[in-house]
Amino acid sequence: MPTKICCIGAGYVGGPTMAVIARQCPDIEVRVVDINPERIAAWNHPDLDQLPIYEPGLAEVVSKARGRNLFFSTEVDQAITESDMIFIAVNTPTKTYGKGKGMAADLTYVEQCARRIAQVATSPKIVVEKSTLPVRTAEAIQTIFAQSGNGIAHEVLSNPEFLAEGTAIEDLFKSDRVLIGGDSTPSGTAAVESLASIYARWIPREKIVTTNIWSSELSKLVSNAFLAQRISSINSISALCEATGADVSEVARAVGKDSRIGPKFLKASVGFGGSCFQKDILNLVYLCRHYGLEEVADYWQGVIDINDYQKNRYAARIQKELFNTVNGKKIAFWGWAFKKDTNDTRESAAIYVADQLLNEGAEIVVYDPKVSLDRMKLDLQLLWESRGENNIEKRLESLKSTDTAQAACTKAHALAVITEWDAFTTQDFSAIYKQMEKPAFVFDGRKMLDQQQLRAIGFNSYEIGTPN
Ligand code: UDX
Ligand code: UDX
Repeated sequence: MPTKICCIGAGYVGGPTMAVIARQCPDIEVRVVDINPERIAAWNHPDLDQLPIYEPGLAEVVSKARGRNLFFSTEVDQAITESDMIFIAVNTPTKTYGKGKGMAADLTYVEQCARRIAQVATSPKIVVEKSTLPVRTAEAIQTIFAQSGNGIAHEVLSNPEFLAEGTAIEDLFKSDRVLIGGDSTPSGTAAVESLASIYARWIPREKIVTTNIWSSELSKLVSNAFLAQRISSINSISALCEATGADVSEVARAVGKDSRIGPKFLKASVGFGGSCFQKDILNLVYLCRHYGLEEVADYWQGVIDINDYQKNRYAARIQKELFNTVNGKKIAFWGWAFKKDTNDTRESAAIYVADQLLNEGAEIVVYDPKVSLDRMKLDLQLLWESRGENNIEKRLESLKSTDTAQAACTKAHALAVITEWDAFTTQDFSAIYKQMEKPAFVFDGRKMLDQQQLRAIGFNSYEIGTPN
């Protein structure tokens, strides 16, 4: 059992995962290090509302362990030299340059971590890949250790994270499974056992699955691809429902009752977002093409294509219903985060829907309880810059935000529900109707509002996957 561990990368994965390990293992000293001093300062902030990540239950776990056996710092080298086990949880975004641009994972940060460990470690370490990585990345890390280090042999494990944002703490406490991939050599087996012994403090042994490293790396990509595939499957059917008069919720319920299929991840929506699904599938597609498996690559690419189709379809529906033009019209957005209970906006459908409507001349006023206007603007700016577009600052003037859901609707022509924050169901819709331009439209991208009630009030109301 290691007594000192550290994690490089204090993000959505590293922060919550290490906080839970520290909470469950008071005898293990856990350090979370990051090159970003502002992020570390936020993790150390006395006011727990200022933690850099919003995640239900996180503040409580941090408050229990921080300063006791959980430490946040920017001292990466010191953490490496003093720890027995080093987790790598740095971000692995889709490449924005060079070979594999827009498809492959950018491993720059992971490689930098490996090189740093090779340089500064003075004793053998167990290095744990927590970031989602292309298959055979562990091999690359091993090669770096073998060829650029100071002769010390480190063991590399793959231990992908399956937590979902918004329920990260709950997921970490009650994981369906913990996956550990390692070499079957004696030192590899010992390393796997060392990591397993940490999780075994609170996860039943039968849920700790061990595999070879590459199976573990691939399982993470495949898990996310399967989950995303279910959403794209039901979203594709939502279009058919709108055309035929069936209701996608009823279809999902009927289909999900088959125990071989199951009810989860069958909720039609404006499209999936988040840092993982798209990135991991693109990664899988890239990997398949690399091995010449064009049919397999095309199959998985279809999951992304349907997701893009769904986001476009939603934006186009708004425009169509608003008499084919949103130019000069005000659209209220409820939600900007990619799902409820997180402040993460990466790949959120909101960005793409806003992009389309802004391009058509709309003004957008957003209410999101956890996302700042600066973040929203940055999301659009990054998208537009990636496409080489210009006039960005001027165009961003048409994006605004408010402090309440109701205020966003003042003089709006339409309300678009993008994120499923619970509080959206309990708004005063009669009051909202009064303050909107008429005819007043609602486009429920999350199927969370009572359509009958909205229509009774006077709204022209639409939702994904339901005929009107
Ligand atoms: C994680 C995983 O690691 C990624 O592979 C997965 O697919 C998505 O979730 P996440 O924790 O969400 O990434 O990323 P992020 O919140 O961006 O945090 C990464 C942190 O690593 C950042 O705070 C960044 O400053 C830090 N970092 C990055 C380093 O400390 N060193 C580096 O060299 C690079
Ligand atoms: C996902 C995986 O669930 C998790 O196991 C992995 O470790 C990281 O990627 P995350 O992206 O945080 O987690 O959230 P998730 O709950 O999977 O939702 C992803 C997106 O799918 C969200 O935009 C969500 O709104 C959407 N979604 C989810 C649907 O549209 N319909 C559904 O039925 C479920």
